[in-house]
Amino acid sequence: MRPNLNNCLRPLARLALFISALCAVLPARAAEEPVLNLYSHRHYESDDQLFEAFKKKTGITVNVTQATADQLISRLRGEGKDTAADLLVTVDAGRLANASSLDLLQPVDSPVLKEKIPAHLRDPGNFWFGFTVRARVIVYAKDRVKPGEIKTYEDLADPKWRGRVLIRSGESVYNQSLVASLIANDGKAKAAAWVEAVGANLARKPLGGDREQVSAISRQLGDVAVVNSYYLGQMSVSKDPAEREAYSKVSIVFPNQENRGSHINISGAGITKYAKHPENARKFLEFLAGDEAQKVFPVETFEYPVNLSLDTSELHKTWGPFKADPLNLGELGKNHKAAVLLLEEGGW
Ligand SMILES: [Fe+2]
Repeated sequence: MRPNLNNCLRPLARLALFISALCAVLPARAAEEPVLNLYSHRHYESDDQLFEAFKKKTGITVNVTQATADQLISRLRGEGKDTAADLLVTVDAGRLANASSLDLLQPVDSPVLKEKIPAHLRDPGNFWFGFTVRARVIVYAKDRVKPGEIKTYEDLADPKWRGRVLIRSGESVYNQSLVASLIANDGKAKAAAWVEAVGANLARKPLGGDREQVSAISRQLGDVAVVNSYYLGQMSVSKDPAEREAYSKVSIVFPNQENRGSHINISGAGITKYAKHPENARKFLEFLAGDEAQKVFPVETFEYPVNLSLDTSELHKTWGPFKADPLNLGELGKNHKAAVLLLEEGGW
């Protein structure tokens, strides 16, 4: 029997009709204007280079509003649907997890981000992604402490360091996240004892940021300090000779290499729930995770790339490789409140 041409065409015609009806019902998705608005807690001039490179590649202009993560999060809450922000950028996973739990972010399903960023450096629900890594390291005075005398964060609580430990205030998110990681790894009771014991070992009441702790070692105010790795890189090439001098007086310890690895954190970002340019935001995240940007971070800001094989920093080579705590950084958000309470009770 010869096929009836009419019968063959009928299903096709129905399909065409269905598609045209669907198009009439669904609003056409207008192409986004070539703009991306960031709310960012990052504070590096070299980021402008990346914005330029992104614009060259995509034609999209990046606008930045800078403030602390807490200020940006409360602004996002206040603005609701009217926010101009497309992407929230922070220097701490705990803050991103917090923004996500406050329903301020939206998930993004991107095979590129999943491939480029290791699982523990991004949210399991795809609400935020890390694009650089920083280790919270210990430094010690080369002339007053022997190599191997201090190896772990837990060692900082040893009474042998009484009056010798330098660390910035517990109000810093860097220390809050460190304590959150201690809660996750050692339990709350041990973390509480650690906060108290470190408080008893302080060389002085916490003062200044991480760089100041390193400088204080060179002024012989204390012998060991806790500092984010990239500040050491920045001090090593600082315009201020006193900072370069301070850097030359210390040795770096990546803590806990014989057990879980050093506490790390990320610079990361999540697309806001009410982003007006979510596609541009996704493209930017993929750009940050891509090889070109990943190779810029280590040389410009001394942050580690999320893909360590792309580490271009000669300085990092002199420090040697290190093992990082594989804890999913979302855990920092879960333990953040408890960490803040412990630090408040600890009084530093
Ligand atoms: Fe910083």
